[in-house]
Amino acid sequence: MTGAVYQMGSGTLAVPMKLFKDNRNRVVEKFKNINSLDNFAYIFLRGGTNTSFNDTDQKYIFRQESYFQYMFGVKEPECYGAINAKTGRSTLFVPRLPAEYAVWQGRIYTLDDFKKHYEVDEVYYTDNMEKFFHSMNTSLILTLFGTNSDSGLQSEPASFPGIEKFKVNSEMLYPIIAECRVLKSPDELEVLRYVAKVSCDAHKRIMKMIRAGMMEYEAESEFLHYCYKYGGCRHPSYVCICPSGANSATLHYGHANAPNNRRIEDGDMCLFDMGANYAGYSSDITCSFPVNGKFTEKQKFIYNAVLDARNAVMSTARDGISWVDMHRLACKTILQRLKEGGVLKGDVDEMMKSGLHAIFMPHGLGHLIGVDVHDVGGYLAGQPERPVEPGFDKLRFARILKAGMYITIEPGCYFIEILMNKAIEDKNLNKFINVEKFEEFRNFGGVRLEDDVLVRENDVENFSIVPRTVEEIEEFMAR
Ligand code: GLY
Repeated sequence: MTGAVYQMGSGTLAVPMKLFKDNRNRVVEKFKNINSLDNFAYIFLRGGTNTSFNDTDQKYIFRQESYFQYMFGVKEPECYGAINAKTGRSTLFVPRLPAEYAVWQGRIYTLDDFKKHYEVDEVYYTDNMEKFFHSMNTSLILTLFGTNSDSGLQSEPASFPGIEKFKVNSEMLYPIIAECRVLKSPDELEVLRYVAKVSCDAHKRIMKMIRAGMMEYEAESEFLHYCYKYGGCRHPSYVCICPSGANSATLHYGHANAPNNRRIEDGDMCLFDMGANYAGYSSDITCSFPVNGKFTEKQKFIYNAVLDARNAVMSTARDGISWVDMHRLACKTILQRLKEGGVLKGDVDEMMKSGLHAIFMPHGLGHLIGVDVHDVGGYLAGQPERPVEPGFDKLRFARILKAGMYITIEPGCYFIEILMNKAIEDKNLNKFINVEKFEEFRNFGGVRLEDDVLVRENDVENFSIVPRTVEEIEEFMAR
């Protein structure tokens, strides 16, 4: 490979800096068509900052701000970047570090080093940003301001002392760059394929080593270790979710109040939802399996209901298909299987109308994934709005699938205490429930199967290859 790369070590993926240049070019292509902009308009982005741990002398391990990562692939904090919105000429601004940095933190790279590392057209110190924009006769600075439709949080536009002397537009950039991030380039897909593979290999290793008597956090520890040691993935894409037994009914288990700290008992199902991150790109994979490698009939029943939903979506999703319809397909498949197994009774379409599906699968079917694990572009203007029906309202996007989108497919079926009680008390829901059979699943936990897939013209390509059928899992774990 010619040119600069990001690589953690031998055996890890070499990611060409060209990937980030291509990302910049894709954004600039959109601006080229905007006639109201002249050749002196600049996109201006801020990188992430080095964040202190409260008031202490320690910092969190730095992770680059997502849009900046997408456009520059720079791993250092406190940087800024400018891109001419018509020509694509790129300028990186880096902090001027004190000489003492070399004593505590290591070598201070020159501007020329940065230029070579990141293959930008020029590099200046951040204290020269105002001078730069004056020298370029800048007519407009386009900064990034928008609301993330998953978190509800807003991006903080880049700035510098003296920016008030320029004309600034902070609205135009966000929808354009977010939309560009929705469709992945071949180079991006190679990184996503790599990080999915590393994560799957780690999941498989855990399936081999897990035993009753281990703590849930041992699975988390093994995953982090494997992905870092063998894949060079320093960060997970999100906090590892490693519930077992009844805990697997908690969708986002693993946080500070539930830190994967239960002892896994014989006969438990595990639901391990973990994904590594490499060069800023995410994976998000969930495997559910019995700790001792052998499904009980009850476990098999719920597992196969979810597997059928996953397979139904996998074989239907493609360019032109509505994601909302895929959510409906997954929910209906699960309800149908629960009905066949005697947990539910009545008409599945009527169950859907009453919102029963959201008792069993209260989350959306999946999400866009890329630099962010819940990637941007979900509810941009001009796209279908967030649905309002139960369960559908949790979808992170409601778009028509397009070739080049990279998404998760993650149906699940859970027996969540509070929702079970609600279903039993609500006369619009309990008419569909065989309560005695339903109660057999209290404390069952849940099953989720999550794959990362590329949407193509006529199908989806699954990047996350792990044992999925009951037979595959039992055979794999027994080996
Ligand atoms: N798999 C974790 C999440 O989607 O939040």
